[in-house]
Amino acid sequence: MSNESLANLLKEERRFPPPADLAAHANVTAAAYEQAAGDRLGFWAEQAARLSWETTPTQTLDWSNAPFAKWFADGKLNVAYNCVDRHVENGLGDRVAIHFEGEPGDTRAITYAELQRKVSKAAHALIELGVRAGDRVAIYMPMIPETVIAMLACARLGAPHSVVFGGFSADALATRINDADARVVITADGGYRRGKASALKPAVDEALTRPGTENVRSVLVVRRTGQEDIAWQDGRDVWWHEIVERQSDRHTPEAFDAEHPLFILYTSGTTGKPKGILHTTGGYLTQVSYTHHAVFDLKPETDVYWCTADVGWVTGHSYITYGPLSNGATQVLYEGTPDTPHQGRWWEIVQKYGVTILYTAPTAIRACMKWGDDIPAKFDLSSLRVLGSVGEPINPEAWMWYRKHIGADATPIVDTWWQTETGAMMLSPLPGVTETKPGSAQRALPGISATVVDDEANEVPNGGGGYLVLTEPWPAMLRTIWGDDQRYLDTYWSRFEGKYFAGDGAKKDDDGDIWLLGRVDDVMLVSGHNISTTEVESALVSHPKVAEAAVVGAADPQTTQAICAFVILRGGAAAETSDADAGSGLVEELRAHVSQQLGPIAKPKRILPVAELPKTRSGKIMRRLLRDVAENRDLGDVTTLTDSSVMDLIQAKLPSAA
Ligand code: WT7
Repeated sequence: MSNESLANLLKEERRFPPPADLAAHANVTAAAYEQAAGDRLGFWAEQAARLSWETTPTQTLDWSNAPFAKWFADGKLNVAYNCVDRHVENGLGDRVAIHFEGEPGDTRAITYAELQRKVSKAAHALIELGVRAGDRVAIYMPMIPETVIAMLACARLGAPHSVVFGGFSADALATRINDADARVVITADGGYRRGKASALKPAVDEALTRPGTENVRSVLVVRRTGQEDIAWQDGRDVWWHEIVERQSDRHTPEAFDAEHPLFILYTSGTTGKPKGILHTTGGYLTQVSYTHHAVFDLKPETDVYWCTADVGWVTGHSYITYGPLSNGATQVLYEGTPDTPHQGRWWEIVQKYGVTILYTAPTAIRACMKWGDDIPAKFDLSSLRVLGSVGEPINPEAWMWYRKHIGADATPIVDTWWQTETGAMMLSPLPGVTETKPGSAQRALPGISATVVDDEANEVPNGGGGYLVLTEPWPAMLRTIWGDDQRYLDTYWSRFEGKYFAGDGAKKDDDGDIWLLGRVDDVMLVSGHNISTTEVESALVSHPKVAEAAVVGAADPQTTQAICAFVILRGGAAAETSDADAGSGLVEELRAHVSQQLGPIAKPKRILPVAELPKTRSGKIMRRLLRDVAENRDLGDVTTLTDSSVMDLIQAKLPSAA
């Protein structure tokens, strides 16, 4: 974090009180903070009663085996029942659950009653494919209703799903199938992205040729594009419309223990393979339901909610599938990109469905800023009453643009800080309570305990900076890393005794409000996606011409960070690159290689062949120095380098630093 942005944060003096009418009718008032502060566990027990339990829990938190938490452990419930059936039983069957908008413009409105029938059929189909409670199911899908239906069908059967983002490569999918030992993969022939059908099934076919995926016995394929001449393996591949449609549309859900696994979701780490974050049932659903109700002030009878995230990320899990549906919300589900077929597509959707609550990411807001104020101005956005942001710190400029051009200078913005690991929102303003500050997530939600500590774990005073920590367990917290309890302890609970280490830098302002300052480790943030430097390095080194690679995220106005790679070539290739054309050809080849290995999102923006990399005496690459070079800064301390002259050689290579 540069000094300049710290200085900007300190200077932020703009304040926006909640709109009076929203405050007057808000779902949650300031009293919630007091109630939760007085009796945190009692507060969460009360929120758990938002759900329909088959066996009502008498226990709240069991922290006897800390930091392995159990919440509501003697309760039993079915997540799909809570998200679908109970609304139908409560007479809301005709309410639209999902307004689906395909990228090509096709639409479907699915009511809660229809959703119940579709989820029931899908559950029966999974049973026919041999899926039983506890079996893992991988889901590799575009953004279509069947994705949500597939997740709910798994939840209904107690079969933990592992959703893999549809933009990931076959190798990334194979790694995740292998780690979770998935038995069934649910996919589609493809989906629509940027005006074209983009295939998915070939990546599944390729993934299933990789070692460690042998236990996948069925691939269930939704026909979405119908345009691909797709390969078919009889006995393994099954069309969704063939097996699902002929099932009964009635299915009696079974209640599972509150701590029954609900899903695994992989998140990139700085070192080693991706971490399978494990979430369970009762505590998770309690917190996503409560936070969706509280932070968005959701009025399910009248609101039209829209979260623009992909369901392959945790935001989609918690705030497309589980939070909104558990609350009986009506929501928009959009398949495609914001600029297809034109840069006003999102605002056209807001106008068309009368969206009242919009939840998106700073990177998308910055893209819209770049496209121009005149684009949203062409649409009627007056239905909007709450705007949300998630995924990275939102710059005050982007926050102000969002409020002014999307929110008519009146709509509250809730900047929600949380993580795949936290499962649900942790820090955020409340729209009817908080006087907001552009760029700050401000404070822990009711029932959540967070603070900022220094290197020695001492809480910093107001005005101080350090690391964000969570000081008490929370219902939606991850339970472990799938198959690796030790890594769970090492990653989150070993940095500061008894406190959860989030890996984010943060500071407190003079009022004690919290400002997030980005990751303290090496994970890069590219267009809202966290990407591990190690994974990109490993992909580069897997190319026969590359000997070694170091990857850093360099600040980039468009994508937050751009991937910048320094590579040491193998002998023959190094000689080739002295010829300028051959050199740029190789760089293109390496970029394509990373894209093929990890998906296009991980493709480096720049690749620089260098003779040496800066290393410490113990052999660790000093990425900090490479970041200085990539961002055209003066070098920091180089004294711990084995050979400080390598930095001169590297800088000489870089046109912009010359
Ligand atoms: C990391 C978690 C939470 C769902 C999407 C990302 C960053 C997230 C904010 C925010 C500042 C934020 C943090 C966090 N982050 N929201 N409102 N302000 N930073 O989930 O991929 O697990 O990433 O995203 O660095 O640790 P994730």
